Amino acid sequence: MKGLLLAGGNGTRLRPVTMSISKHLLPVYDKPLIYYPLSLLMLAGIREIMVISSPRDLPALRRLLGDGTQWGIRFAYGEQPSPDGLAQAFLIAEDFIGADGCALALGDNILFGHGLSELVETAAERRAGATVFAYQVPDPERFGVVGFDDAGRPVSIEEKPARPASSWAVTGFYFYDNDVVRIARSVRPSARGELEITDVNRAYMARGALQVERLGRGFAWFDAGTHDSLLDAADYVRLVETHQRLKIASPEEIAFRRGYLDREALSRLTAERYAHTAYGDYLDRLAADVPTLAEATRHQSFCD
Ligand code: TTP
Repeated sequence: MKGLLLAGGNGTRLRPVTMSISKHLLPVYDKPLIYYPLSLLMLAGIREIMVISSPRDLPALRRLLGDGTQWGIRFAYGEQPSPDGLAQAFLIAEDFIGADGCALALGDNILFGHGLSELVETAAERRAGATVFAYQVPDPERFGVVGFDDAGRPVSIEEKPARPASSWAVTGFYFYDNDVVRIARSVRPSARGELEITDVNRAYMARGALQVERLGRGFAWFDAGTHDSLLDAADYVRLVETHQRLKIASPEEIAFRRGYLDREALSRLTAERYAHTAYGDYLDRLAADVPTLAEATRHQSFCD
């Protein structure tokens, strides 16, 4: 499965902060915002990711992320000349997606909670249809909203409805089979002139192929597009990281735990980039203490 990381847009709600910088590069406590949705794609096991952004912001994103080899993954870059909607990502990335399934992560969305890795791995392994994640919010009219029947099946999905069918908002992480490209091609611009991801999801729902995973207590979701939500997200990350002494959304840690980087590679990267930093100290501790997934599996089969 391929991944798309959508990091364009105007960031108007964050002005003046975003007058000259992409919101995706702004810090959420100890790392850039874009690391959080990137980590979710990595947790799903996706290693080929296209970062899509505006002509203004692509160079800075490229400086931050490089070609991905430092984390054992691969980045491609795609340009979105103007922010004409989320579903445009599939048209920009058509050749990159090829014959594969495709996950889309919005570059300003943060999702964290116990069991998340299993949830997104399962979504990535599903061969047919689409999976989205819904989260209960107090202001559903700002989001795509799913309505359910008595049996809990999704029966409606609407973008920014004046009268929401439920309080379940669709979060910015979506998993699709390869049909998504064909479906995106058939989507027409909405009244606000955008190719809406909600129209793509509705097409899957119409054929009974939309899986909606409802995220309950124990998950935190932030759409960090406003000053308040950006600060809330930073407070949350600081609190969890300080209490648990574990980092949320470190690409180095995920790459190491999944076995994309071995111990030497992690130590080299840490020395090159993060010497004398708290982030580097954390990675050094990790390299010293934690078996990677590959090592744990070897150990497991040795014990079996
Ligand atoms: P939004 O938050 O809806 O839009 P925005 O980032 O332009 O912000 P604002 O509303 O304050 O002007 O976008 C959600 C995410 O998707 C965000 O990470 C930017 C990205 N995006 C694109 O990359 N291209 C697009 O065409 C759109 C609409 C959004």
